[in-house]
This record gives sequence, C-alpha cells and structure tokens, in this order.
Amino acid sequence: MNYHIFTLFPEMIEQGLNTSIIGRAIEKGIIDLNLINIREFSTNKHKKVDDYPYGGGAGMVMQPEPIYNAYKSVMDTKVEKKTRLIYLTPQGKVFNQKMAEEFSKEESLMFLCGHYEGVDERVLETIVTDYVSIGDYVLTGGELAVMVLIDAISRLIPGVLSNNDSADYESFQDGLLEYPQYTRPYDFMGKTVPDVLISGHHANITKWRKEQSLSRTLERRPDLINKAHLTEEEKKYLKNIANIDDL
Ligand code: ADE
Repeated sequence: MNYHIFTLFPEMIEQGLNTSIIGRAIEKGIIDLNLINIREFSTNKHKKVDDYPYGGGAGMVMQPEPIYNAYKSVMDTKVEKKTRLIYLTPQGKVFNQKMAEEFSKEESLMFLCGHYEGVDERVLETIVTDYVSIGDYVLTGGELAVMVLIDAISRLIPGVLSNNDSADYESFQDGLLEYPQYTRPYDFMGKTVPDVLISGHHANITKWRKEQSLSRTLERRPDLINKAHLTEEEKKYLKNIANIDDL
C-alpha cells in the first residue's frame, strides 16, 4: 500500500506513524508513506499557501494552486489515474471499520490535510474523490485524522499484524465489541480469571466469549446491536438477558 499525503506538517505525520506496528510495517516495506509538503509547491516568493477569505470572515483559507501543483506532481509520476484522494474534514462521511476495510483493498491512496479555516472549494471540487470525518468534533487540521485512518487501514493489510488472526477477532469485525481478555496473574487484587477460560474446553470458551461480546455490546453500545447480523441463537441469548422483543 502506498500512501501519498498532502500536508503542511509532514513531520507531525512522520513522527506519529513511524513507531510501533505501523513503523515496523513501513520498515518492512509493506506500506510506504510519501509525505508531500504543500508549501514546497507554492509559487509565491515567501512560500505563502493561504490568504484572506473572499466575502470576509475570520481566519485564512488555503489557496488552490499549491495544493493542485502538489497533487499534479504525484499524479504525473507516482500513481494511477483512478487513485482515490481522501480529504479529511468534519463535513465528510464518518469513518468506520467498513470504510477501513474498503480502503485497505486499494493499491494506493492519497490524502489531503486541510488547515486554517478551510481550503478553497475549487481545488476540492477538482481533485477530491472522498470526504471523510473521524467524528463530530473539530480538529485544528487533518493531520491527526489522517493518522487515525492510516492506522485503521494498515492493520488490515496482510503482514502488518504479526499474528494474522488478530485482525479478525477484534471489536467491530462482526459488528460487536470484543469480549474481555485476561492474562497472568490468575489472582489480581482478589479478582480471579473466569473459570471457563482455564477449563481447557474450547467450545465452552468460544460460547462464553460470544455471550460476553453480545452482553457487552448491549450494555455499552446498544446502537450497534440493531446493525449487527445476529444468528437466531444470538438473538435468543440477548432476549434472555434483557427485555428485547424486536431484534
Ligand atoms: N479536520 C478537522 N476536523 C476533522 C474531523 N473531525 N475529521 C476529519 N478531519 C478533520
């Protein structure tokens, strides 16, 4: 996977992604980060990239030319025509696991990080294919948001996680939250590990974990229950632990 990121703060993204699992994937060459500093594509002698908004108002707006020139340089040399360009904005579709899965199947992706009060609309209309938000709050720029997307997308790419199974079993993969996990010591401050987990009975462990996933999702994220694809048995379990009739 090749990520091309247009930003005014490449060092922020570089430092954020160069550690831990994603850093290792970059080192191994499974993913590649191409950070493009928009400022280098300014034709202004002071390397200016923003200006006052037409019509007045607070703040500055990022100008279209440096962004377009940066985009053009990547399009001409590094990527195929159909490569998606994702603009990080609170006005976008709210990012979720399904979108992470969809994006992880691409061979390369481009991201544009905005700053200041916004980006000139005309360049967005010209180059952006997807508008994506990471939640209903406003950040100072798209850099943190792009790191969130790249982390969530990259862990789905084969070889990025050392244990290939672990991407399958975690929260949201089946629309439910993950079951609780335990490790040594057996007794922590008087709290012991649930008996079933040390029983060695795999079918019972699987059943217990599924039930924990269901009850935990119902308690913490009831909004996910209606969207999850539940089997009849799972629905029956939920009906038993709560007064839910219309699953
Ligand atoms: N830029 C500023 N706020 C954002 C958000 N919530 N999601 C994505 N990009 C943003």
